[in-house]
Amino acid sequence: SQSAFGMIGLGTMGSNLLQNIADHGYSCSGYDINKEQVQELNDLKSDNIKGYTDLNEFAESLKSPKIVMMLVPAGEIVDNVIKDLLGVLSPGDIIIDGGNSHYTDTEKRYKELEEKGYHFVGMGVSGGEEGARRGPSMMPGGDKEAYKYLQPILEKIAAQVNGEPTVAFMGKGSAGHFVKMVHNGIEYAIMQLISETYAIMKDGLEMHNDEIYKVYKSWNEGRLKSYLVEITADIFSYRNEGEENILLDSIRDQAKAKGTGKWTSQAAMDLHLPTPIIDVSVSTRDLSSKKDLRVEASKIYPDQTASAYGKSPEEYATKLENAFYFAMVSAYAQGMHLMYAANEEFDYDLNLDVIAKIWRGGCIIRSEFLEDIYSAYNKNPELKHLLLDKQIAQSISMNITAARNVVSDAVLNGIATPAFSAALSYFDNFRSETMPTNLIQAQRDFFGSHTYELKAKEGVFHTKWIMENIKE
Ligand code: 6PG
Repeated sequence: SQSAFGMIGLGTMGSNLLQNIADHGYSCSGYDINKEQVQELNDLKSDNIKGYTDLNEFAESLKSPKIVMMLVPAGEIVDNVIKDLLGVLSPGDIIIDGGNSHYTDTEKRYKELEEKGYHFVGMGVSGGEEGARRGPSMMPGGDKEAYKYLQPILEKIAAQVNGEPTVAFMGKGSAGHFVKMVHNGIEYAIMQLISETYAIMKDGLEMHNDEIYKVYKSWNEGRLKSYLVEITADIFSYRNEGEENILLDSIRDQAKAKGTGKWTSQAAMDLHLPTPIIDVSVSTRDLSSKKDLRVEASKIYPDQTASAYGKSPEEYATKLENAFYFAMVSAYAQGMHLMYAANEEFDYDLNLDVIAKIWRGGCIIRSEFLEDIYSAYNKNPELKHLLLDKQIAQSISMNITAARNVVSDAVLNGIATPAFSAALSYFDNFRSETMPTNLIQAQRDFFGSHTYELKAKEGVFHTKWIMENIKE
């Protein structure tokens, strides 16, 4: 009998996802140019899975309409695979790109394939290797017709939260990949925020790893319950066989990035939509990689002595929990705001509540708090910004002072908290009826005749900022 699902790209993600699909009773075919990976798949000896080294045979093994998902590295490879696929598939067949493709590439591919009569689905897949195997969160977008064929399969293989699958059709064109990109932007922001709490506990409060472990562990038992906090606690208790120190202490402090966080900031800037917590999270990873410069500078500018931290780390950890909650909410809020703006600009048909809902399980940024985001957008689909929701406002209000304390203590002690600071500054501007930006307008007009607008009068104005009128 013919297979219900085909996968191209049998790396860990592809292989795991295919096994997940096979587990749910679907017959599956796999293909990779790397023959060893095909062999590995066949070595699993699953009745439901067969690996092919020949693309023609792979395509022939699928029943119509043929469903082929690509899980290959983003970029040119995706275009090459699509080109090859067009030689073995027919119009009406379904091609899914499950990689982290840039949404503009997806938009282009969607249009090209649609013209040729193929159904194209750009789908974000989150949850890493374990997620792919046991239940990822999936963000498909593009061809809604095709989704009808995929829905039963995807809903079975997705993670389940309260009996509901963490997959839903996101919207038109590149919607799926845009949403996945923002997911990753939020992922960068939350990871950066967590690393700043680590710096504060380690350098400011001079806590030991086992104490830090306990803090993260307890956070994960409350409202901060989330995958990222959970794995952070695990990291603080992970020791290699026979070693006394945790592995973390041996890991270099230069962070790598595949680029999706940067794409989020770039897309946000293109849309003139502020996401400063994500922006500094990208920059801070980049700064971390400039180790040579940091080593050199560290010799010129010695550490500031810690003084703002009292003797009770436990007490301070509560303050830190409050501050983290505040900043984390803000990070999600900025990501949601970006999707709100993209929806207006690109006509995606996104439902922000549905996005929050399918992020509650399976994906890297899954967290208890997404429940609150879901209810905020569910009760008001027109909500312009998460921080304007009354419930959310109420729950973060109690944590603002803690955020101020944490940031100011860190600043006084020379501990860098770019993401916490960005969260707070963003908030203080966001809640300001007036910003000092009238000055920027005046300056622009002064040096470049860029004009300004007046509070009391419609229209644009320009002043010759002549010396005579500059009276001291
Ligand atoms: C996921 C992750 C994943 C991401 C990597 C690392 O949702 O499963 O977001 O898609 O690509 O975890 O990303 P960076 O290399 O950019 O940190």
